[in-house]
Amino acid sequence: MKKFPPISSKLPVMLHGADYNPEQWSDYPEVLIEDVRMMKLAGCNAMSIGIFSWVKLEPEEGVFTFEWLDKQLDLFAANGIYAFLATPSGARPAWMSAKYPEVLRVGSNRVRNLHGFRHNHCYTSPVYREKVAIINRELAKRYAHHPAVLGWHISNEFGGECHCDLCQTAFRDWLKIKYGTLEAVNHAWWATFWSHTYTAWEQIESPSDHGETQVHGLNLDWKRFVSERTIDFCKHEIDVVRAYNPDIPITTNMHMTESIDYRKLAKELDVISWDAYPDWHYTADGDDSRLAAWTAMHYDMMRSFKNKPFLLMESTPSLTNWQSVSKLKRPGMHKLSSLQAVAHGADSVQYFQWRKSRGSSEKFHGAIIDHSGHEHTRVFRDVAEVGELLGGLSDIVGCTTPAEAGILFDWDNRWAVKDAQGIRNSGIRYEETVLQHYRAFWELGIPADVIGIEDDLSRYKLIVAPMLYLVSETDGARIQRFVEQGGTFVSTYWSGIVNETDLCHLGGFPGPLRKTLGIWSEEAEGLHERDTNGIVFRPESAWGLSGEYDAHEIADLIHLEGAEALAEYRDDFYAGRPALTRHALGEGKSYYLATRVKDAEFYTKLYAEIAKESGLRSAIDTDLPQGVTAQVRTDGDNDFVFIQNFSRAAQTVRLDSRHYTNIENGKSVAGSVELPINGLVILKR
Ligand code: GAL
Repeated sequence: MKKFPPISSKLPVMLHGADYNPEQWSDYPEVLIEDVRMMKLAGCNAMSIGIFSWVKLEPEEGVFTFEWLDKQLDLFAANGIYAFLATPSGARPAWMSAKYPEVLRVGSNRVRNLHGFRHNHCYTSPVYREKVAIINRELAKRYAHHPAVLGWHISNEFGGECHCDLCQTAFRDWLKIKYGTLEAVNHAWWATFWSHTYTAWEQIESPSDHGETQVHGLNLDWKRFVSERTIDFCKHEIDVVRAYNPDIPITTNMHMTESIDYRKLAKELDVISWDAYPDWHYTADGDDSRLAAWTAMHYDMMRSFKNKPFLLMESTPSLTNWQSVSKLKRPGMHKLSSLQAVAHGADSVQYFQWRKSRGSSEKFHGAIIDHSGHEHTRVFRDVAEVGELLGGLSDIVGCTTPAEAGILFDWDNRWAVKDAQGIRNSGIRYEETVLQHYRAFWELGIPADVIGIEDDLSRYKLIVAPMLYLVSETDGARIQRFVEQGGTFVSTYWSGIVNETDLCHLGGFPGPLRKTLGIWSEEAEGLHERDTNGIVFRPESAWGLSGEYDAHEIADLIHLEGAEALAEYRDDFYAGRPALTRHALGEGKSYYLATRVKDAEFYTKLYAEIAKESGLRSAIDTDLPQGVTAQVRTDGDNDFVFIQNFSRAAQTVRLDSRHYTNIENGKSVAGSVELPINGLVILKR
């Protein structure tokens, strides 16, 4: 295990800070001075600035006003505060939309948007690209060597799509490169269906509700194109700023978008950053730990993109203004939720936002400084407490996570499986399914990476592929090799169905996974909400699980082709047929779960058993109470274990026999630790 260098050698400690908009306060110079005093008080050392400042930087075309930013960065430098300096492309000045309407986005209904909002621009428009290059160049010329500049924050939360004529042409060009000929496109999209065959490139249009939506291969390729176009735009921005100082690390803040393959975007960045906005305390069914696991899964995904520490770039210090109900963080939750990111590999805790804006749509979004303007608030105290704690965690900066399990979560598969019309049109629940499996690892305190099919599988002892609907022959063969060479592979219903262009595998499902799993899926059905089936463990399977569990939503009727049945269906005409199987292949083995089991406990038990068999290590060697997780980061010599209580009750966690020190107070700890509601302890061993 190696330790990574800090994100910037300028600041080799945990980063703490927020989005900061001094441009909104330039008429209040005293506010800007107060802000710096309070930033230091809150232990803030890294602020993101300039994110939506374009009009303040270029009030008229070609006229630049950098003085306010000069002053701000100098003020930071004089006070030991650093900046992620943003390129301002997330929102444009009105003068630009008025003069160059082509920069405005066109919807799938082919209607051009008016100026307004943000993230409302065409990623293809040569004018927009040129204007972005100009402002980025000016910024880079002036600030790439400024002592306060820590990193580039490219734009803000890329996303969305444009259907203008420029984008249509670019899409066709993209298809020409990908397929070469129209015949190849028609074949890949199975275009003879409903007479969809294209006879000229110009006939190809992006999907639209009042046009084409039924050619799934087209839908999938359009999604890939939009993702690549966005990444290409981001790269266009990066190339400009990097040229002025290649040593400044570059990031762009990711969030929840489905429209960009973040794993591909990650390749263009020096460091990954994520904006995390879980609606804490709001889980309708009271299952708070599900939300914690969901958040953890995304942190693990961010870390896994580069297998190294990432940044928590935004989170709210209190509440948001856009969730259906804006709840405050309960006592303890701010520290717990912030350190959750660090536990999974973040080297920062950053917020949106430092100071509430006075007007417009985000004026009630949580901030470190609210409209009262001072530091004597509960939120400020919570933030300052985290600032102080982070100040003592410098040894953890750069530490890695020793994951031996990889959970597959792929954009291609996600797009395709959600587009498929078939067994469950009332919600195939791809993300929830991945979470169901991931959550078991979280509950067990077993570190897991969240990976893509193209990642190096040989790093792992166990690969879990929930609903791997889209899988190519090549990737199927790679998975088979992984198992033959000693790995353990787990997959589920609705896997191995289509290839990379969304054409069904012929010859029997699960297509290229059939040999690995040792089963043939003859038919599969969806279950109505009111229907339940169940799986019953066979007593003779001599395995760690027993009894029966309810199943719902999807049932796959399989035949054994070398695999053994560990459990069978309980009800219906397929009662007694295999529902969970194991197959030995080469040095390894694989499992297939044929139906969606309801209960979270089933998955925890299943993976406890599989983890034992595959020799996976957990963060600490103990049984964790439900809703409590332990995560670990290591520098190779020292481990840092974060025990986090997301259950809604106080908990006692028994430790293993290793020697532990509480990192917050330096005291040694043995036997067990007590965690209040929303409690967290960080132990070194
Ligand atoms: C983020 C965005 C910020 C702010 C925040 C509010 O997605 O990047 O600019 O709008 O949401 O929660």
